Amino acid sequence: MNFNLLNLKVFGDSRGKLISLESNKNLPFEIKRVYYIFDTVPDQERGKHAHRNLEQLIVVMDGACELVLDDGKKRETVWLNRPDVGLYIGKNIWREMRNFSYGCKLMVLSSDFYNEEEYIRDYNEFLKYINH
Ligand code: TYD
Repeated sequence: MNFNLLNLKVFGDSRGKLISLESNKNLPFEIKRVYYIFDTVPDQERGKHAHRNLEQLIVVMDGACELVLDDGKKRETVWLNRPDVGLYIGKNIWREMRNFSYGCKLMVLSSDFYNEEEYIRDYNEFLKYINH
């Protein structure tokens, strides 16, 4: 499936830890947009959409959450709970985010600007789109 867990290089010393993400270097795309999600609650799900062309890297900076990834043929679940692991999601993957810890903080790096036209928010439409 078109997703991958990336182990990010950590620069750490007695002062703490640092991770650097660079377009087309340790990230497989050029970053055009960054957004972040915070103040999450466990009983609320997010996502439930696919992107026609967007690539993303999701990093849980603090807390934990579950990502369900679906390419129309199978479903896989990934548990994200550390800031040195990024979840790369390529094009045409349906994603659902759930089981957030309270106040989980997720940073999302994206290969393009926000464009609602580019979203597929209906699962049946997603299946039709990938099987066309
Ligand atoms: P939504 O797609 O529901 O978030 P999630 O991916 O977690 O399911 O987005 C919530 C709102 O924020 C919605 O009105 C669209 C808006 N939004 C932007 O304006 N710009 C962005 O970059 C993103 C990701 C969302």
